[in-house]
Amino acid sequence: MIISITNQKGGTGKTTTAINLSAALAFKKRKVLLIDMDPQAHACWGVGVREGDCLSLYEVLSPQAEKRVSFKEILKKVDDNFWIAPSSILLSVLEQQLADSKDKDLRLKMALEKERVEEDFDFIIIDCPPNLGFLTVNALRASSQILIPLQPNIFAFKGLEYLLQLVDIIKEKTNQNLSWKILITCFDARLKYTYKFISQIKETYPDNMCDTIIHVNVTLCKAQEEGKHIFSFDKYSRGAKDYFMLAEEILSQDNKVAWNIEVEEEADKIYVVGDFNSWRISEQFMLNKLDGNKFRNTFYLSPGRYKYRLVVDGRWQEDKSNPLRVKNPFGEYDSVVELK
Ligand SMILES: Nc1ncnc2c1ncn2[C@@H]1O[C@H](COP(=O)(O)OP(=O)(O)O)[C@@H](O)[C@H]1O
Ligand SMILES: [Mg+2]
Repeated sequence: MIISITNQKGGTGKTTTAINLSAALAFKKRKVLLIDMDPQAHACWGVGVREGDCLSLYEVLSPQAEKRVSFKEILKKVDDNFWIAPSSILLSVLEQQLADSKDKDLRLKMALEKERVEEDFDFIIIDCPPNLGFLTVNALRASSQILIPLQPNIFAFKGLEYLLQLVDIIKEKTNQNLSWKILITCFDARLKYTYKFISQIKETYPDNMCDTIIHVNVTLCKAQEEGKHIFSFDKYSRGAKDYFMLAEEILSQDNKVAWNIEVEEEADKIYVVGDFNSWRISEQFMLNKLDGNKFRNTFYLSPGRYKYRLVVDGRWQEDKSNPLRVKNPFGEYDSVVELK
């Protein structure tokens, strides 16, 4: 699932949400990629990556980059289950460079599809710049969901209409499935007018509000200043709890269930392939080697019945620890798992 964090206003909590929602999903054992689409590179700074020191999206997306690289080459590991695709100030000249290109709004989508990046992650979160320009359009065209962080004040409504108009245009022109939700950020319970604002916005968009509300919490700022996400800075802070709840809300709509698979084999590397990943070997479906010859991992799939096999050091075979199996067209057996 690809989620853009978008609002053309600056300072609404986009970057804070992008970083800490990603971290919360990773904390909950989902594989997450945070794409920093803002040339200001605040998301990079917020997780301790100095964007000038590394390859960036510019080297992937620009036809004029001195050194062109693949998308996967630029990824930096932030933490367990958490990677970032760094931004660069040079992204701000990309639109000019691509002015004559017919598919300039699809550059990010094409880059992700070319390398099947989505198959390697449970969630891709995109931190957008504070405008509705070409980079934001690229992010939206690659996404299936938009999260719109909104600070509860009278100015927040201003501009929201334009963003929603853009979403409508994209949906009409392209048939793209693009849902959106508003996330209230920086909520301060001491300020009376904020309650009025929230009831007003709930009345206007009753079906598009996140249940979770992010409270004002200075620890979130401190963590960002230190280049850390909130779960490594202070996981018991109010901010951590709020983003943890937001992750739970997003996971509950995702409707995926855990599949805990454990096998005993003499091997170095075991991958699981099946109809859930088009029978392709990918790092996302690799089992972790424990002590001895035990391998284990947890995967999250939609409820259903799946056929799968193990690729044990390159050899395809059934999962011998699972008695449920069906014969395949090659006269061998596929293992079967049913997830409810
Ligand atoms: N819930 C919050 N409580 C306190 N400060 C916050 C909160 N969310 C964001 N901030 C602070 O507000 C400023 C702007 O937030 P940021 O996420 O960078 O916004 P945007 O990316 O929309 O410009 C930052 O200094 C950030 O630390
Ligand atoms: Mg930002």
